[in-house]
Amino acid sequence: MGRIVDVPLIYERSVPGRLGVRPPVCDVPVRPLAELIGTKNLRTEPPHLPEVSELDTVRHYTRLSQRNYGIDVGFYPLGSCTMKYNPRINEKVASLPGFTHAHPLLPQSLSQGALQLMYELQEDLKAITGFYAITLQNVAGAHGELLSLMLIKAYHESRGQGATRKVVLVPDSAHGTNPASAALCGFSVRSIPTDADGNTDLDALKKALDELGEQVAAMMLTNPSTLGLFDQNAQTACALLHEAGALVFCDGANMNALVGVVKPAEVGFDCMHLNLHKTFSTPHGGGGPGAGAVGVAECLEPFLPTPRIVRTEEGRYALAYDFPQSIGRVHAFYGNFLNLVRAYTYIRAYGGEDLHTIGEFAVLNANYVLARIRHAFPPAVDRLCMHECVVTAQAYKQYGVRAFDIAKRLLDYGFHPPTMYFPLIVPECLMIEPTESESKQTLDMFANALLEIAHEAMEQPDLLRNAPHSTPVRRLDEAGAAKQLVLRWQGEVVYPHEVPACAC
Ligand SMILES: Cc1ncc(COP(=O)(O)O)c(C=O)c1O
Repeated sequence: MGRIVDVPLIYERSVPGRLGVRPPVCDVPVRPLAELIGTKNLRTEPPHLPEVSELDTVRHYTRLSQRNYGIDVGFYPLGSCTMKYNPRINEKVASLPGFTHAHPLLPQSLSQGALQLMYELQEDLKAITGFYAITLQNVAGAHGELLSLMLIKAYHESRGQGATRKVVLVPDSAHGTNPASAALCGFSVRSIPTDADGNTDLDALKKALDELGEQVAAMMLTNPSTLGLFDQNAQTACALLHEAGALVFCDGANMNALVGVVKPAEVGFDCMHLNLHKTFSTPHGGGGPGAGAVGVAECLEPFLPTPRIVRTEEGRYALAYDFPQSIGRVHAFYGNFLNLVRAYTYIRAYGGEDLHTIGEFAVLNANYVLARIRHAFPPAVDRLCMHECVVTAQAYKQYGVRAFDIAKRLLDYGFHPPTMYFPLIVPECLMIEPTESESKQTLDMFANALLEIAHEAMEQPDLLRNAPHSTPVRRLDEAGAAKQLVLRWQGEVVYPHEVPACAC
């Protein structure tokens, strides 16, 4: 792998014999390790770790961390992937020793606090979504999609229709994880188009239902959609699906816009996932650990994963396993517990009364950005948007400038780019999600930067085509990075017993 940064690798800082820590000398006689675990389990060579002082190590990683862009550094308007402020109170509560030292195998009598927190979070999410029951076991949005489809499958199987209901309808604007989850769960996928107003195309939906009849198991509908719009046809779509004996899953990754304002269960959805790591401010990025939650209507409740967290008649909290129709576990223990603590803290810190301001400010902020930039970047569909605005940069194609170039140029202005080229149905798409946590001043600085860049696109297109100019690295081979996962530097250090670095 070529060197792309001027920070030496930690291995290049290594000096034989240099120590970072000096382990305490133990004067109690100990049994040799080989005796305890057997010689065949001991490696014969030293582990080829870099030999560096503590100070060098601290400086090395601090310097690297300063080259990252994160939500704590600046505005991060990544639409659909909601990077919102993670309040420090969340971290404070999640690091309380009672939570960090809680072992998942502790007896229930000694885990009452943790169980109570999860039970109360379930109750909060029930109140927010309107669903009959909640599970916290899934650890990502996509995991929640899969779990929801597993529940739908179990529901059809319990009615003797498992073998016939094999098709899941997915809008053409859906996040890629939707069709992937359906396929992983053994369904085939039929795409449903979006109409000119950005809603589910009801004529196309009716046609698909007529054609497929009892083959349809479910529809996966994202509301607000990935166009950043409230799907005004969602209620009718749910009714049509129910008439056809099928169920409707709501991709709730965009719940930010609805918190405290709309209860998805009342729209007619049968289940939905929530991304606690987006809507309820727990950290995400870099692949996790996330935290999902799935809410279900009464008809799906018997199939929820076990163990379930319940409150006993004596007011104690317990793990309950006796649900004969349950699909079983979908994750070890109870999900990513500390992220549940963070989500609970966020909800409590807001307080029940003010929860609706999450949705209201998320929508206000996105519409403010849209109003400031719409003359230069028109919206894909000309409507009030929800928590994110989806705009097109098509006008700059005639100058040889693409959405990608605009995104790269934003880095020079000190902003993380918005999501690009998603949803796929919008040409030269930029998807901007400010979140409720950002101030008017920040939104203005961002809008001003975008307008300035629009000007540059016409006057100095090369400036954009070669951007970024001010970052530690310039344009990277992003496709190569995704397809050829070289995650570990190998250089001169030889790892005789280990798998090759490229594990793609
Ligand atoms: C609309 C939508 N659905 C599903 C997902 C999947 O969520 P996760 O990344 O937690 O698996 C995302 C992710 O950002 C999303 O934006």
